[in-house]
Amino acid sequence: MFKHEKKSVKNEIERLSPWYSTIELYPGVFTSGHMLRNIALTRELIRRCEVKGLRCLDIGAMEAVATILLKRRGAADVIAVDGDNRAHKMPLLKSAYEVDFQYFGNIALHNTLDFLLNKSRLEAVGGRPYRFGFDLIVLSGVLYHVYSPVHVLATARSCLRKGGLMIIETAAVNDPGFTMQYNFTGDKYIYDWTDTWFISAPLLDYFCRFFRMEPLDCVYLPQENRGFRNLIRLGVVCRAVDSEPAADNESIMGKSTWNYDHNSIVRYDLTEGNEKEPVPYHRNTKELVLRDDIKTCDIYKTINSGSPFPVTEDRLILKLHDKC
Ligand SMILES: C[S@@+](CC[C@H](N)C(=O)[O-])C[C@H]1O[C@@H](n2cnc3c(N)ncnc32)[C@H](O)[C@@H]1O
Repeated sequence: MFKHEKKSVKNEIERLSPWYSTIELYPGVFTSGHMLRNIALTRELIRRCEVKGLRCLDIGAMEAVATILLKRRGAADVIAVDGDNRAHKMPLLKSAYEVDFQYFGNIALHNTLDFLLNKSRLEAVGGRPYRFGFDLIVLSGVLYHVYSPVHVLATARSCLRKGGLMIIETAAVNDPGFTMQYNFTGDKYIYDWTDTWFISAPLLDYFCRFFRMEPLDCVYLPQENRGFRNLIRLGVVCRAVDSEPAADNESIMGKSTWNYDHNSIVRYDLTEGNEKEPVPYHRNTKELVLRDDIKTCDIYKTINSGSPFPVTEDRLILKLHDKC
């Protein structure tokens, strides 16, 4: 099973350092990653999706932890993209986990949609059917790094076929307002220089619905003292639908799609004709608060009526036998 000797894996880990994630690459041999707790949320939400046979996209894949788990769970095809380029690590990861996937580095988010469209078109040459639209998209740990989270959410939505699922994980604010807190508070920074906006839970809920996605489920973790109140890590699963799920008092949600720049940020037409069965998703409805009116998961009420997701240390490490 293990093509490499323990010593050569250790040497490779050293040569490819530094590592972001803690990953077992040979029995008992691990990379020295940061063991950040939020990956447990993404892993849990992947576990609740039935991914067998699906075409998946992992945006901001870093060292492909989510990508590997999707393949391990039977996804037919997974494409991982990232603005960074960790292609040099992929052969070792693929070999250790005995999975294959497509990884493309140096793809910044503003180029991602064009890149994926062109890739699909090129693959269609030679009579293969042209098919755009993923069944499942993972957008984990990305939104709080970008200058415009709304555009990035829209880019991801443009790649998702109707009935498909999007897993979003981000740093966020557990606040009832519809706001985004910038990384600078006036006298200090909350996170590091790579970080930008912390979206409030209700605003993320609103934007998911504005981009024609129904929030189905969510999990969260409080963040330790970062000098800003109510900071959380938030994981959400949404399903792509064909209109904005707006409540009666949200009549302007639909109208604001009439703005001149709307079609320049989100493209539902690209995945038209690629409708299939809704991707099955298993949620624990006892832990969810659904809206009375539109029956979607009310993200803010759900996180404030339940408990944080229980994270154990083994969920922060990708181990060779892991399937979720
Ligand atoms: C915090 S890491 C998340 C890694 C992984 N998805 C996870 O959940 O652990 C953020 C990832 O997003 C990528 N990223 C951040 N901003 C980006 C941008 N503007 N364009 C493309 N990728 C970006 C980074 O290179 C990095 O791999």
